[in-house]
Amino acid sequence: MTSSSDFSFSKFSQNSFYEVLNAHLVDMADLGGDKRIVDLACGTGGVTGLIVERLHDACESVVIAVDHSASALKQAMENLKGGRDSAIQFVHSQVEGLSDSLKESVDTVVFCNAIHYIPDKDALLADISKSLNPGGKFAFNTSFFEGSHPPESLEYYRKWMFKSIRTLRREYGLRPIRSEKVESRRQLTVEQYRELLEKQGLTIVRQEIDTVQVPIEGWLDISGFSDFIEGTLPGVPLEEASAALQSGVHQTFAEMNITHVPRSWLGVVAVRS
Ligand SMILES: C[S@@+](CC[C@H](N)C(=O)[O-])C[C@H]1O[C@@H](n2cnc3c(N)ncnc32)[C@H](O)[C@@H]1O
Repeated sequence: MTSSSDFSFSKFSQNSFYEVLNAHLVDMADLGGDKRIVDLACGTGGVTGLIVERLHDACESVVIAVDHSASALKQAMENLKGGRDSAIQFVHSQVEGLSDSLKESVDTVVFCNAIHYIPDKDALLADISKSLNPGGKFAFNTSFFEGSHPPESLEYYRKWMFKSIRTLRREYGLRPIRSEKVESRRQLTVEQYRELLEKQGLTIVRQEIDTVQVPIEGWLDISGFSDFIEGTLPGVPLEEASAALQSGVHQTFAEMNITHVPRSWLGVVAVRS
């Protein structure tokens, strides 16, 4: 069981809007007949489960689920216990070293909601390309790209951060510590992603931008995820930072009298030539 304050990704990953958009990317990648699939940065296993559900012959296939967080992998193993008997191999590794972690090349690499964390995307994509069979697919999605924040949502972010920082100061006497710009805020354009992929012999065959209406539960749950908290309020203990962010969400939804905030996801499937 997951406690409500373990700061894992599990609770957010169970939001239905999030499952739907990850399932859509996995469907775009058309995995059915694939034998060897990597779920890169698998987190607590939400996407791994979606991949396993779509395999035509789960007994003949292997899904290699990679993450650098030991606690996320442990949670993924727990969450995926008792599913279809496709072999899921869990690998504790940085995504940057993928080809070294694999014994053989693979048919598809799925990389959901994490490419924006990686500083050297060029090296990462070179290594992913090297890990794929010729004709193999690379599918990724991200909600941190140039265009992910629709203009009508910008007021929400301004108010949310202002109120969270004010709550942190007033209720807990704490302030975030200024840090280097976090990687996820350096947002690439769709064209920059295309150029990076093409440089590594990966040709885009499908690309979509989907705008999702994220309900209050999504914002509350992401405020309970350690990576998000540390990126947003650096240097503040997780418990207090999470409480301040959640209070900021409630205050902002009430003040703006809104029920949802739009956010756009980029989804891409590219094929190795
Ligand atoms: C936002 S979660 C996404 C989880 C899952 N792919 C999904 O879409 O639901 C990001 C995951 O990326 C992992 N991660 C971030 N940087 C990583 C890196 N350099 N190497 C391996 N895992 C990384 C984190 O541990 C976390 O589990």
